[in-house]
Amino acid sequence: MSDTTGYSRLQIALHWSVALLVAYNYIFGEAAGEAFDQIIEGEGGAAPGTPLHIWVGLAVLALVVLRLVVRFAQGAPAAEAGLQGQLASWGHRLLYVLMLAVPAGGAVAWFGLNEEVGDIHGAAANALMILAGLHAVVALGHHFVLKDGILMRMLRAR
Ligand code: HEM
Ligand code: HEM
Repeated sequence: MSDTTGYSRLQIALHWSVALLVAYNYIFGEAAGEAFDQIIEGEGGAAPGTPLHIWVGLAVLALVVLRLVVRFAQGAPAAEAGLQGQLASWGHRLLYVLMLAVPAGGAVAWFGLNEEVGDIHGAAANALMILAGLHAVVALGHHFVLKDGILMRMLRAR
């Protein structure tokens, strides 16, 4: 993997589409929870269909795998030197781990009808949202306080 001066158009498109889809699934996760409970508890009435949450989540999983392949193929900007750069790199790595683990856990819960994994999936989704929220605040801080052009790297292709 090589260092570059910015992200490609494809990398930027993938970053923002994954961000939108993750936010959608977090905000509208409840429908999946209700359908899941209905299936597990075998409540009467019509069996619930597959909630959009499942399809959106599987799309996130596929897009994140694609994103990692593209990152290895096209490279990414090098982290800043020092502690701040180290924190950014590890923060991004942890985001990738959670972006894979959250939908993968959801899939194990849904297809394996496993309630414990379902609970872990919900907790991991909370952790992902907290970290992504922090990440967004840091990115906006770079733009409006430090005015160092880091946010523009994810808006304008190299
Ligand atoms: C980025 C992707 C995803 C995010 C952010 C996410 C987020 C969430 C959240 C916040 C909940 C808790 C909702 C509630 O009960 O109030 C939830 C529940 C659930 N999600 Fe996801 N999810 C994602 C992907 C997936 C995928 C790919 C699947 C299955 C293929 C899935 C299956 C489920 C199931 C079965 C539940 C109910 C779990 C339970 O009630 O114990 N999710 N999800
Ligand atoms: C308003 C929300 C967001 C803003 C303003 C934002 C901004 C940015 C910026 C400016 C970068 C480039 C950082 C750099 O070059 O050093 C970046 C990278 C990244 N963002 Fe976001 N982001 C947001 C939401 C998200 C969300 C929701 C996720 C994950 C679910 C996410 C995951 C990542 C990851 C993993 C990277 C590292 C990319 C790489 O180098 O491979 N971001 N983001």
